Amino acid sequence: MPLNSADEMKKRAAAVAVRAVAPGMRIGLGTGSTAAYFVELLGERVREGLPVVGVPTSERTRTQAEALSIPLTTLDETPELDLTVDGADEFDARLRLIKGGGGALLREKIVAAASKRLIVIADESKEVGVLGAFPLPVEIDRFGAPATRRHIERAAAELGLSGEIALRLRPDRHAFVTDGGHLVLDCAFGAIHDPEALAARLAAIPGVVEHGLFIGLATAIVVGGHDGVRTLGRLDQA
Ligand code: A5P
Repeated sequence: MPLNSADEMKKRAAAVAVRAVAPGMRIGLGTGSTAAYFVELLGERVREGLPVVGVPTSERTRTQAEALSIPLTTLDETPELDLTVDGADEFDARLRLIKGGGGALLREKIVAAASKRLIVIADESKEVGVLGAFPLPVEIDRFGAPATRRHIERAAAELGLSGEIALRLRPDRHAFVTDGGHLVLDCAFGAIHDPEALAARLAAIPGVVEHGLFIGLATAIVVGGHDGVRTLGRLDQA
């Protein structure tokens, strides 16, 4: 059956990902509207008796998972996870991602890195040839924020990248603050032809807490499209 709306595509992708969940798994629970569909479906499976524990990647997801009575744990108690399922703002054919549109990139990356597998679920609008149409979120410490921003500008310029670097604001125009108490800069660099090089440069800047380039983390991407659902990578393998 053709999928007509983005929400329908997200739901179908989430339904495929939930089939990868097996009894006893320790699961990272992503953040965002697509991941929320997965959490909802996982909640149904838990209600039916599936034994799993989850680690939420944000306070938002924690609230949703608690409301669905999904048993939760922390990386302190459970530092190694079997699977994380999360959304993305962009992905390319090499399973590289931009994440952080919802501001949860730091916890999302920590949880993904603690997992044997990361299954990304997305509608087809997130697929790009070259990453960067979506402004890259960079989470920074509040201390020295303007200095950190200048370093980011210079690091990007060395790679031939430029564009507006905007402090993320809440709807009330106050600075958006992450669950970890940091700020987010949204960097509209345009096409990022060498994401690995940019990731390395950003990671080396003092004050950058984390950036939204997820490279080498996703093991599969489940894409909901108008013609159905397809998978990049391997759903069954780390
Ligand atoms: C949250 O910080 C993000 O990384 C989300 O995973 C990403 O923004 C995708 O969100 P949607 O599923 O709502 O598009």
